[in-house]
Amino acid sequence: MKKIGILTSGGDCSGMNAAIRSAVRTGLSKNIEMIGFRKGYLGLIKGDYLVLDNKAVSGILQRGGTFLQSARCEEFKTEAGRQTALENLAKIGVEGLVVLGGDGSLNGALALHRLGIPVIGIPASIDNDIAFTDMALGVDTALNNIIYAVDCIKDTASSHARAFIIEVMGRNSGYLASISAIASGAEYAIVPEADYDLADICSQLRHRFQEGRDNAIIIVAEGAGHAQTISESIKDAIGFETRVTVLGHYQRGGAPTVFDRLLASRFGKRAVEFLLTGESGKMVGLSCHDIIVTPLEEVVKTVKRPQEDMLRMAEMLGI
Ligand code: ADP
Ligand code: F6P
Repeated sequence: MKKIGILTSGGDCSGMNAAIRSAVRTGLSKNIEMIGFRKGYLGLIKGDYLVLDNKAVSGILQRGGTFLQSARCEEFKTEAGRQTALENLAKIGVEGLVVLGGDGSLNGALALHRLGIPVIGIPASIDNDIAFTDMALGVDTALNNIIYAVDCIKDTASSHARAFIIEVMGRNSGYLASISAIASGAEYAIVPEADYDLADICSQLRHRFQEGRDNAIIIVAEGAGHAQTISESIKDAIGFETRVTVLGHYQRGGAPTVFDRLLASRFGKRAVEFLLTGESGKMVGLSCHDIIVTPLEEVVKTVKRPQEDMLRMAEMLGI
């Protein structure tokens, strides 16, 4: 293998840059030419790439987002789109590809593998909904962002005896909501994976208000309901005045934590090493403290749910 390409696709996350840097420097140390495609699969279809030397990836480790940029590319979901991508890869002489992204992007990586392109995926999505890795890239940074915001909100909530409904990301996943609820001491986590009873939540909040608590924090995953709607439904029944904060894309940015920098460096290095040993159609992942590799076919057909004991712990500790 003489030339390896790398791309970042789908929702961005902190740590992508650190993983690109690691993959590039690993490849260069083995005399592989490294190139980066811009804007995910769109770059493959347009043949839009840049050569990545050591200098090109210097100074990016600590930056959130992805300097290669990311995109959602409908055309790549079509056979014709993938055919164009294949032709460009052949023209440019790319013999292996590293794909960073969430479950959609990993489906795209699997499609390329099935067309004969050696490809290794790196799980990168703040939702932490990708199976066969304890943590995806960006999750730890997003959690730290959330915790910082919730701590700030709790201060002002206490001053005014208010309940805050804080909406975090997670279209289909309650991971960020449940873990941030535990780590911030929130009263409730409302997640798409578990039923909740607003009447029950109201009566417990009212009880808390009556016993003199000075604030309450409810963290809701966007996939489980809108914070504003929940606030409207409970505001007259709980005693506390209510306010809403939607954290939105703030969660996805910022300098990666040490955990994400290290994970990104390990994932990037191993992805290139796996390609060079002839592996393809696989995803690197973290299992306990080890880097493992799993066939993408297994990854994309497995649904990852938040751990039941974490959901129960969030509920029990919030009381
Ligand atoms: P994420 O990777 O963050 O889950 P998306 O689900 O939007 O984000 O997927 C990102 C991109 O991956 C899509 O815009 C598309 O280009 C590609 N992709 C998604 N699903 C498939 C698929 N089944 N086959 C081929 N490419 C796909
Ligand atoms: O990265 C995954 C995710 O954070 C989801 O939780 C969220 O719904 C989605 O991205 C929103 O991304 P965008 O605004 O880029 O479409």
